[in-house]
Amino acid sequence: MSPSIIHTSNQSVSTNGHSNGHTNGSVSKKSSQHGGFGTRAIHVGSEPSEETGAVIPAISLSTTYKQDAVGVHKGYEYTRSLNPNRAALERTLAALESGGSYALTFASGSATTGIVLQSLGPGAHVLSVNDVYGGTFRYMTRVAKELQGLEVDFLDLENASDDEIIGAIRPNTKLVWIESPTNPTLRLIDIAKISRLAKSHPSQPLVLVDNTFLSPFYSSPLLLGADLVMHSMTKYINGHSDVLMGALILPASHRHLAVYEKLQFLQNASGAVPSPYDCWLAQRGAKTLHLRMKAHGENALQVARALQRSEHVEEVIYPGLKTHARNQLAYKSLSAHAKKFVDTFKPDDSDAPFDFPFSGMISFRIRGDEATAERFLTSTRLFTLAESLGGVESLAEHPARMTHGSIPPAERAILGIGDNLIRLSVGVEDADDLVEDVEQALELAVRSNA
Ligand SMILES: Cc1ncc(COP(=O)(O)O)c(C=O)c1O
Repeated sequence: MSPSIIHTSNQSVSTNGHSNGHTNGSVSKKSSQHGGFGTRAIHVGSEPSEETGAVIPAISLSTTYKQDAVGVHKGYEYTRSLNPNRAALERTLAALESGGSYALTFASGSATTGIVLQSLGPGAHVLSVNDVYGGTFRYMTRVAKELQGLEVDFLDLENASDDEIIGAIRPNTKLVWIESPTNPTLRLIDIAKISRLAKSHPSQPLVLVDNTFLSPFYSSPLLLGADLVMHSMTKYINGHSDVLMGALILPASHRHLAVYEKLQFLQNASGAVPSPYDCWLAQRGAKTLHLRMKAHGENALQVARALQRSEHVEEVIYPGLKTHARNQLAYKSLSAHAKKFVDTFKPDDSDAPFDFPFSGMISFRIRGDEATAERFLTSTRLFTLAESLGGVESLAEHPARMTHGSIPPAERAILGIGDNLIRLSVGVEDADDLVEDVEQALELAVRSNA
C-alpha cells in the first residue's frame, strides 16, 4: 500500500521526484506561497470543488479508493497512505510555514517526534536543547535511547558558547533538536545561529525546530536556516482544543526531498496518521490562525503587564516584555508577517527592547510555595486548570506536577521548573476579563499565606 504520489504544497510529485501534473481536481494553479499569510490560510488546500462547487471541502471517510486498472487511480489508494483531507491540510501547512514545500501530518505531536527519531536509525546521535517539552524528553530518553539504540545529549542551547555547541556535535550526530521558546521557562534559542553552526560542521546534522509555541504566524524557522519544523497541531494551529495532531514541514531541495520521502515512508509504515475528520477540523482551525495569534499575543501582553504590576508575583516570563533577557532576539527572529503586526506596538522608531505581543504563553513565579500556586490555579474563574495550550480558551497549569512531571526532580530544578512556577495559555477572551481574573486569583492565593 505504498503511496504512489507525494504531495507538495502546490503540486503532486511522483515518487521519482518529477511533477506528474496530476491535480486531484482541487489543486491551485497558483504557487502556494502566493498572497499574504491570511490569504494562504484561507485559500490554499481549500479551493472550491471542481466536481460539486462546494466552497468547503467534503470529508472523505472512505478508507479505500477505486482503481481503474491495477495502480491506476486518482492519487488515492488506501487512507493510511493518503486521503483527500490529509492531502489538502498538508498543502495548507506547507503554504503557512514560510519557506516550506513539503508537509506531513501525524496522529499527534508525540507521534511526529517518534517518527523523526525512528528515521535516524540505531547508533545515531541527537543533540537536543535541555529544556524540551516533557513528553519529548520522555521519548528521547525512555524510547529512543533505551529501546531504539540512539544516543541523546541535552545541552543548554541558549547559553552554550559556539565552541561548546560545535564540540557537542559528533561524527554520528544526525539531528539537532530545538524548541523555542522552551517549555515552560520560555527561553529563546537563536535558531539562525544554531543552524549556521550545524551547517558548518562536517557531520551536517539536520536542524529541527519545534515551533508549537509560536506557530507559523510568529516564527518562520525554515527561513532562519532550519531543515525541519514540527508542530503539535493540537495547540495553536488547530486552536480549538478538539483535535490531537502533529505536523512536519520541510523546504524544497534534493536533500530535503530525500528526508521527506523517508519520513513519508515511515508515516505510512507506522500508520500513526490523523483521521480525515480531524484533518478537516484542523484545516478549518488553521483558516483563522492569523486572527487568533494576534489576539492571543495582545491579550498575553496585557496579562503579562498585570502580573508584572502585582506584588504577589516574583517573576514574569514573557519574551514580548522589554524586561525579558531575550526581548531583542524575540523581535529579531519574528516572521515577516508578525513583524508588520508587532511594529504597530513600537513606542518610537527604535527597535527592541519594547513590549510587544509574542504568542499567548506566559510563565510566572508566584510569591509563595506549591500550595500558593495550587490555590491560584483553583481560584481562577476564566482560566481553566488543565494541561495543553493554544486553544481559544485560557488555561493555567502547574508544570512541575503536570506537563513536566515526567522530568526527574533534579533535572527540573536545573531547568528552573520550581514548585511556584505557573504556566498560562492566554486565550482570546476579552483582555480586561482575563486581567481581572488573574488579579483576583492572585489576591486569593497569596492573601491566604498571611
Ligand atoms: C512544545 C510541544 N511539543 C510537542 C508536544 C506533543 O504534542 P501532542 O500532545 O500533540 O502529542 C507538546 C504537547 O504539549 C508540546 O507542548
